[in-house]
Amino acid sequence: MAILTGAGISAESGIQTFRDAQTGLWSRFRPEDLATADAFRRDPKLVWEWYAMRRERVGSARPNAGHRALAALEARCAAKGVAFLLATQNVDGLHQAAGSRAMVELHGNIRRVKCFDRQHPVDAWPATDKVPPPCPECGSPLRPDVVWFDEMLPREALQSAIAAARSCDVFLCIGTSTLVQPAASLPFLARENGATVIEVNPGETTLSASAQIVLRGAAGEILPLAIGPQDI
Ligand code: OAD
Repeated sequence: MAILTGAGISAESGIQTFRDAQTGLWSRFRPEDLATADAFRRDPKLVWEWYAMRRERVGSARPNAGHRALAALEARCAAKGVAFLLATQNVDGLHQAAGSRAMVELHGNIRRVKCFDRQHPVDAWPATDKVPPPCPECGSPLRPDVVWFDEMLPREALQSAIAAARSCDVFLCIGTSTLVQPAASLPFLARENGATVIEVNPGETTLSASAQIVLRGAAGEILPLAIGPQDI
């Protein structure tokens, strides 16, 4: 069993998606101003503050029934010895908060911080007027530990997700527009390798026509129904 999730699964936790027409972040902000290394070089303060605002929202969000259903599914697969991997494009940490463990984060995690020049992971830094604050180890400006558009995905996470997509019997694709590569190619890879691909999404996506089963609706409603409420 392999699973890919996107922003839609966290929508019911109050976190904005990216491409929904009225409410998506990219309907109000330009990714090239905020989500690239070039944007950070041009205006580090703007980028730091935008992510700080999003980090604050994520900090007060709670996992919803969709996240919990996937954690329950993982436990059920473990009990039956079924291979399981959840790959998420989300940076909000809500799958982990719901109890998911067999998972990889393809786009990083907004709750973590690293430095721009040398990627030092940073948990805390001294109080400062500088925005962004400097790295306590090397002085380079701090940035969120997320993947920007002009950057590579974490290699091990992507390799695990590709291996799971290639070897699974069932691939669940939940709450993603399947527009951003390379994550978007995972359900297609699973399909090519003979898996049954199931999409859970209230809207049509580029995957819909290729998925064998399409469940139209919100993840927080469909997943508990599809997976069974008994241990959620
Ligand atoms: P998108 O905003 O592109 O797509 C969100 C999807 O969720 C859409 O297909 C919606 O129809 C669907 N959706 C909305 N509400 C839902 C609900 N309650 N239940 C299930 N589905 C729902 O978000 P992603 O596909 O995750 O990258 O975007 C991929 C990447 O683009 C993100 O990880 C981010 C962004 O730029 C980076 O930051 C690198």
